[in-house]
Amino acid sequence: MFLAVAGKGGTGKTTFVALTVKHLLAAGKRPILAVDADPNANLAQALGMEPPPSIASIMQAVAEDREQIPPGMSKDQFVAYRLHQSLEEGKDVDLLVMGGPEGPGCYCYVNHLLRTQLKKMAANYPYVVMDNEAGLEHLSRRTTQNVDFFFIISDATVKGIRSAARISELARSLKLQVGQEYLVINRVRPGDLDVLLPEVEKTGLTLAGTVPADPLVAEYDLYCRPLLELPDEAPAVQAVKEILKRTGIL
Ligand SMILES: Nc1ncnc2c1ncn2[C@@H]1O[C@H](COP(=O)(O)OP(=O)(O)OP(=O)(O)O)[C@@H](O)[C@H]1O
Ligand SMILES: [Mg+2]
Repeated sequence: MFLAVAGKGGTGKTTFVALTVKHLLAAGKRPILAVDADPNANLAQALGMEPPPSIASIMQAVAEDREQIPPGMSKDQFVAYRLHQSLEEGKDVDLLVMGGPEGPGCYCYVNHLLRTQLKKMAANYPYVVMDNEAGLEHLSRRTTQNVDFFFIISDATVKGIRSAARISELARSLKLQVGQEYLVINRVRPGDLDVLLPEVEKTGLTLAGTVPADPLVAEYDLYCRPLLELPDEAPAVQAVKEILKRTGIL
């Protein structure tokens, strides 16, 4: 199952990804490959893991021949080997950080290798969860397989819903193969939906659910505590669970 999360900056993508990982783990759905494809990477912190070196930095070094390929090893094998080294291995969750943006050079060849190697790597995991930025850079480069579940996270504003709709259009124009696409509105306060639902209707997006503004989420972030450790009763944790159940993921 390949689940991708996108949204504009600060909408709560990483929070949603981390809570999704939490629920998948609790349901025994493991091992999970978590991919941080946001250049402003912070998924590691949310998962309580060490951030590994980014793939972009490694691939750039390979492309610029700053990395010495051992004699007898092909470039393909070397990329596979370096990719494996950049995997941060946890108990049930492994983490890859894509990184970027790259330098000005053309790395078509290395990118091609990366695509094929990443696909092979992802194939080892029954669950892959990916945190993307709004531009869908890594999804657009097809470094991954088809997306089974695509969640677009919006903040609780009309502007946010409209930008979620633009991300949906972008995904379509990139011809991403998406199984099911859903909108999630995050940090919702009582009464917000009265204003937002008509806007959602205009966009034609399918609302999977909402996540309330939860002071505990903000507090964990403040103290840099992993979101995986949030108590099950926390309203945001419960809300994400409902969304995952409703969409058939749990
Ligand atoms: N439901 C919520 N209740 C309270 N605070 C929240 C909630 N969701 C997210 N936040 C807070 O909002 C901020 C942004 O959340 P998060 O990092 O998940 O967003 P993001 O979309 O991944 O951001 P970025 O684009 O910077 O990667 C964080 O400080 C987080 O703690
Ligand atoms: Mg983030």
